[in-house]
Amino acid sequence: MSGKVVVVGSLNMDLVTRACRLPKAGETLAGESFATVPGGKGANQAVAAARLGARVAMIGCVGDDAYGEQLRAALVAEQIDCQAVTTTADVSTGIAAIVVDASSQNAIIIVAGGNGLLTPKVVTRFDALLADADVVVCQLEVPMETVCHTLTRGRELGKTVILNPAPAAAPLPAQWFPLIDYLIPNESEAAILTGIPVDSLSSAETAANALLAAGAAKVIITLGELGSLFASTQGVRHYPAPAVVAVDTTAAGDTFVGGFAAALAQGRNEDDAIRFGQTAAALSVTRAGAQPSIPTSREVQGFKPA
Ligand code: RIB
Repeated sequence: MSGKVVVVGSLNMDLVTRACRLPKAGETLAGESFATVPGGKGANQAVAAARLGARVAMIGCVGDDAYGEQLRAALVAEQIDCQAVTTTADVSTGIAAIVVDASSQNAIIIVAGGNGLLTPKVVTRFDALLADADVVVCQLEVPMETVCHTLTRGRELGKTVILNPAPAAAPLPAQWFPLIDYLIPNESEAAILTGIPVDSLSSAETAANALLAAGAAKVIITLGELGSLFASTQGVRHYPAPAVVAVDTTAAGDTFVGGFAAALAQGRNEDDAIRFGQTAAALSVTRAGAQPSIPTSREVQGFKPA
């Protein structure tokens, strides 16, 4: 392992409103603040992997506009290789309209924009990056055929392949399971993938077993303040979450995935990598925003639970 992570995925500018609660249908609600913050599940995971110790390259697509430039600059500032972040005219950069409520929960609407133009052909142009990776990471904010292509190439090249199936809208294609080393959904995504409501450790275990039965090699279900549940054919382990005071949960899952991938790429074992990702995610929820909330390795090492 040489410590290299390649992320194939989305870049979004997050348009973040804070309000006392989420609005109801047809309601106009006065918010408390507004900010534009670099985000997108792919870019967040790339930033997390970089801040948490990996060398990182990102494969993605933005529009030829100010948000696209700002998102690329945010990655470059983290020393992320952006040669494969392509810019396409006549499309807007992806955005996410996010509302965060007083209890720090969020609701998100995404508009794909350039992310929808990340085709398998574009990824093929940067195949050398995949070949040079230790760990390849994908999510579901880019076209399904692109995710399928990336998982397939990652497997052919003998890389460690991680899929964060977010956002999930339906069960995954059956042929994807043998291509994935680690499938990392949160509780709502696990429920959508399996049809099993996930609201407790025991229901998470049932869902994880269903994903193993579908062909997943290893599953990690992230469960917010309940921690995470790891499952493989060897059995199930629960990792309690470090206690923190939550400010904003946006990108907590991305921080876990990026931190876990960075740790694996640096040769750490999976138990260590889960604890590391989990501590990084816990720290991220104590801060506002997506990329600004992601901690560094040094902060994770210095973390003391409340
Ligand atoms: O996972 C958080 C991310 O989801 C946000 O940054 C937003 O861009 C959406 O993609």
